[in-house]
Amino acid sequence: MDHPLVAHKVSVLRDKTTPSPVFRQLTDELVTLLAYEATREVRTVEVEVETPVATTTGTAFAKPTPLVVPILRAGLGMLEGMTRLVPTAEVGFLGMARDEETLNIVTYAERLPADLTGRQVFVLDPMLATGGTLIEAIKFLFDRGADEVTCICLIAAPEGLQRLKDAHGGVERLHVVLASLDERLDEKAYIVPGLGDAGDRLYGLAH
Ligand code: URA
Repeated sequence: MDHPLVAHKVSVLRDKTTPSPVFRQLTDELVTLLAYEATREVRTVEVEVETPVATTTGTAFAKPTPLVVPILRAGLGMLEGMTRLVPTAEVGFLGMARDEETLNIVTYAERLPADLTGRQVFVLDPMLATGGTLIEAIKFLFDRGADEVTCICLIAAPEGLQRLKDAHGGVERLHVVLASLDERLDEKAYIVPGLGDAGDRLYGLAH
């Protein structure tokens, strides 16, 4: 998203001296701005509205309602900013982590409707680094029948974005909305310049 408000908030997030409370507040504000862009294609229906003056045609979300899925843990820091903008959305949860031995992504928690047929899903994950988690999450959601998946991330590395394209490139119903596309990944899979570990900066060092 190319907007001075977004660029300014990302710059403060990047600053290593920004304390957790400010980091959380800015993440929340940024998500609301990104969500505005990400929901541009949300499905709507016409409804009749009676104003004090006349009857007119208004807009409401179509059914089934959008589903918001934060990826635990750091995606939780983005949830409130999203639900503030789309209060009628349902919320499901996905906990995914890398198995340090096999390096495979494992799903350790899942609270989602069994059938996602026809759903527009908004996935929240602040850092698109290697793309491993998001690739698995997107696969999981499409396997359950999701109609359209939009990933909302704060920062991405080109390598991760490319892996996502390679894995799901043929899927027209996949969108990614970013606050910033950064330079690269380092040897520890941190995004450069990035902002460090988003989970730690949101919630402190407990794992
Ligand atoms: N996850 C993070 O929190 N930060 C990175 O830079 C990469 C992955």
